[in-house]
Amino acid sequence: MTEIAPTQPLVPYVVCGLNEIPSKRAKDFRLGRIENGEVKHWSIVIYRLGQQVYGYENQCPHEGVGFDFGGERFVNDNGSLLMCGKHGALFNPGTGECIDGPCVGQSLKPVNLVVLDDDVCIVGVELAGDDIDEDDEVSLCEDAGV
Ligand code: FES
Repeated sequence: MTEIAPTQPLVPYVVCGLNEIPSKRAKDFRLGRIENGEVKHWSIVIYRLGQQVYGYENQCPHEGVGFDFGGERFVNDNGSLLMCGKHGALFNPGTGECIDGPCVGQSLKPVNLVVLDDDVCIVGVELAGDDIDEDDEVSLCEDAGV
């Protein structure tokens, strides 16, 4: 019989309300992630399509830099794809895979999200309560029984 190692409990952190991100748009958040007892800057992008949300680290696999255009823009003209503002790589927003551009076949790093009572929550990581960026304050999700 195989023993399964205990996993870290899934503590959800509220990042924003679902309606703070229009459908077919994305928004970035600069958070503090706790690793080995230290708070590290962690920049993520959340894309919304209807009631679905998809999260990725804000780091293009082409050159390892943030992929925004400036002005918090992360999508192509019709909002159907994530797009890097540096050299135009296009990504499937549901999988994070680059489908056109200089890093075809590579993928954005996913961030685990859930929607709880119209709040977008991150799970699977430990975040600092005091955020790096004052505008992007996270809190434990009270509705998840934690
Ligand atoms: S850095 Fe994103 S396409 Fe080059």
